[in-house]
Parts: sequence; C-alpha cells; structure tokens
Amino acid sequence: MSLSLDDVLKKSLLPKSDYKAGKSKAEVAAHTKSKKLYKLSSNENLLGSSSLALQAIRDSIPRLNEYCDRSDKKLREALADYYKEIGLTASQFITDNSAVSLINLIETCFLREGDEIIITNPSFKPYAVFARKLGATVIDVPLVGDEFVPDVNAIKEAITERTRLIFLTSPNNPTGTYIPKKYMDQIVDLLPDFVVLVYDEVYFQFVDVDDYVRAYDYLDSGKHIIGVNSFSKAYGLAGLRSGYAYSSEKIARYVSQGRTPFMINTLTMEASMAALKDDQFIQETVSIIHKEKAFLYGELDKLGIKYWKSQANFITIRPEMNDLTFEAAMLEEGLMVRPVANFGAPDCIRVTIGDREANEAYLSALKKVLNLN
Ligand SMILES: Cc1ncc(COP(=O)(O)O)c(C=O)c1O
Repeated sequence: MSLSLDDVLKKSLLPKSDYKAGKSKAEVAAHTKSKKLYKLSSNENLLGSSSLALQAIRDSIPRLNEYCDRSDKKLREALADYYKEIGLTASQFITDNSAVSLINLIETCFLREGDEIIITNPSFKPYAVFARKLGATVIDVPLVGDEFVPDVNAIKEAITERTRLIFLTSPNNPTGTYIPKKYMDQIVDLLPDFVVLVYDEVYFQFVDVDDYVRAYDYLDSGKHIIGVNSFSKAYGLAGLRSGYAYSSEKIARYVSQGRTPFMINTLTMEASMAALKDDQFIQETVSIIHKEKAFLYGELDKLGIKYWKSQANFITIRPEMNDLTFEAAMLEEGLMVRPVANFGAPDCIRVTIGDREANEAYLSALKKVLNLN
C-alpha cells in the first residue's frame, strides 16, 4: 500500500479556516516600537476580572492535584439561581469552555453533511467556519440598512427542509447594533419546528435600550431557541474560557450529551460560580462603558468619523483608509484595533471601549493616522 499521511492530509479532511482569532498583547508587544501598548482589539474588560472570581481561583489552587467534578451540576445550579426570577432550572443549562466552544458543540449536535445554517452577515465568523467543517452549507442573509437589522422576509425565504440552525447575534459583533424586539418576534414566529434559533447574547449586560430581548423571552413560545453566553466580556474572564447556554430542557439534554466529561475544570467552575454573584463588578463595568461610550460618540462626531451606535463594549468605525494600512498605522502609535472585513464588514475597524486614558490615546492616534485636526 503506497498511501501516506501526506496523501491523507492533502485530501484536507477539514476545510481551511479563514477565521483568525485576535492577537495577544504579548505577541504584538515584541514587534512594536511604541512604549505603551493599548489593546482595544478583543472586547475584553477594561477593569480586569471580577475580584470574587479571582479569589475563588486562589482558594481552589491547592485542590488542583485532584480531578475536577465529573459533572457541571454545581455550575448549572448556580446559573439557575442567577436566573431564578426568570424561572430557569438547572436542567435547562449547558456549560462549556467558552461561547465559541458552545457554538461548536451546538453545531456538532445539529448539523450533518448537506444541512443548512442561516447566518446574517456581518456576523461573528466562527458560526460559518464550524458549520463548513461539518460539511454544512452556510446561507448568508445579510443584515440590512444602517442599523443592521435582520431581513425577516429574506430569512423566511431562505429556510428549506435542510435548514437546521439560524444564528442571530444581539448585540452583534462586529457592528455593535442590536435586534429590536419587533424583529425578533417576527423571526421567532416564522420558525418551523425543525429549526433551532441560536441567539448569541454574550454582550447583553452592556445594552441600554428598552426594546432589547433575551432568548429566555421566547422559551414559552413553543419555538426552539438557545441563548449563548460567555464569562469573557462583562465578567472579565476571557482567559479562563467559560460560557453557558440555555434552552428548553429537551434541547439542553440533547446538546449536553455531546459534552466531554470533566469539561469544566476546577478553576473555571469555582470562578464562574463566584463571578455570577459579583453584581458590583458588573455594575462598575457597565457604568464605565456607558460613560466612555458617550465620550467617544462626542469625540468621533467632532472628528466626522463614521461609526455605528453600539450596544456592546466596542464601537465600530469606518475610517477613510485601507483597513490593514490603518491597523498597521495605529499599531505604530501603540493601539491594537481590529479590522473586521472577514466578519463581512469591509473597511471597518472594531475598537473596544477602553478607560479614559486608553480612549484618549486612541483618539490622538486616530487624528495622527488620519491627518485630522
Ligand atoms: C458575538 C460573540 N460571540 C461569542 C464570542 C466568544 O466568546 P468566548 O470568549 O466565550 O468564546 C465573542 C467574542 O468576541 C463574540 O463577539
């Protein structure tokens, strides 16, 4: 037999991924001349991490020689407690090492070769990347207008007997826009029984509008919806990798069967449970984001830069410059920002809202790079 490993790899078992995760600060620092580096490229928490979570991690370190709990029951019970006013129970939750991991898990559970998923670009790239790896067909029904709302009729027309999942994101990455309730109502209404709506709400804490809805608002509708969440953003635990989803008991049980045993390690378990109790940290985080968001809107208006009003902890702008040239020039000034062309937003740059010092550094770099006064 002359078959070699190279032959196998050449057949490319997996399609190439064109999703490039954001660079770390250390990776970039080694190549930049600027003395101080501001990382505004990954929507991390500008205040650091929940202190309750950090304490829980310190307290758990002596137990790291022991295997962690086999089951995630403790965390699911803590989540049920957090959502007790909504009436969610522990058996409606699915936990995993991040929202990205949950997206992969959900797609693995629902997509088979030839199945279809509907996404609405510009959107978070991994939805499509994971689906293609599973041999599914990705149907893009682009968001419409300057407010980037879903095209309800086009979604309806795009649904076929092969459609299994629809992904919607609110607040959306990379636009920062949200999906007003009236659109969500219409979309949920048109879902056939064989389609599951995956609603990514990882930035929900930052929303400051009244007509925002959560996935749990539709759990009693008789339609199938999964809410996806993360500890990376408002809780400031991006490096820990922790996320959760919730749905009907039936769907949560089905998806949970696909989880790996011992998935939630001791530190993730204890830190996530502690973070859920840290309302003060969330309040501080949200309040500084809202304050700095208003400051940045004012300054961007003065500079005449096109941006989109955001319900998340970042603001996407469209500078009049090639996106990669702009990224490189900003880096020279010590600012890490994120071009989002591969999320379906050509020429646009996503910039995390920082503290006042970071935002001022961003604005002065912006003026220099774009030659504005
Ligand atoms: C819309 C959206 N979903 C999911 C994630 C991933 O979150 P996690 O860090 O939990 O994987 C992000 C992170 O940028 C995001 O913007």
